Amino acid sequence: MNGSKTHPASAGRRLGILLSGRGSNFEAIARNVATGNLNAEIALVFSNRPSAPGLARARELGFAVASIESSNIDREAYDRQVAALLEEHAVDLVCLAGYMRLLSGAFVARFPQRVLNIHPSLLPAFPGLDAQYQALAHGVKVAGCTVHFVDEHLDGGPILLQAAVPVHDDDTAETLSARILVEEHRLYSEAIAWVLAGNYRVEGRRVLKT
Ligand code: GRF
Repeated sequence: MNGSKTHPASAGRRLGILLSGRGSNFEAIARNVATGNLNAEIALVFSNRPSAPGLARARELGFAVASIESSNIDREAYDRQVAALLEEHAVDLVCLAGYMRLLSGAFVARFPQRVLNIHPSLLPAFPGLDAQYQALAHGVKVAGCTVHFVDEHLDGGPILLQAAVPVHDDDTAETLSARILVEEHRLYSEAIAWVLAGNYRVEGRRVLKT
């Protein structure tokens, strides 16, 4: 299921996926690459957690994988190592997919408008951890997910795409997360395709179609 077998490498379409956990967003991207729905190549799957299930899955699927344990390393020094790995694999676009680390300003500056993140809320509502739980606790009636460019602020950069889902009275954090996840799996590949197509411009916080 290695996308590079389905689609030969083409300039500017090499993705680096950074994850820390389960990796269902990575798998959705990999599926879309394999089926030809997303014209891209996964060049590297990286994790700050060597034991991340998503990394094991990527290895199983035959992708290039790497990990560096992140405890006890200064953030900038750590990010320099990650950036070097991504550059070694000639990554054009970095996709955070459940990557549980804030990136340093230096890392973001090294990949200007080339780092995306997916977050399980309609930002700017509920940044940070347990966004679905935060949404329930706040009593919102509509929740969702956001794909955005990454800057040095937590869940902070210009928004590419959002998708909304209803919140039901009997929802738990688990049922709401599952409903949002269905949208995440669709939305992330759509946003990646848009960025790779390049038909957008960023005006302040707004990402506009061109
Ligand atoms: C997703 O909900 C994503 O929005 C958030 O972390 C979760 C990662 O899930 N950033 P998975 O590892 O992709 O399954």
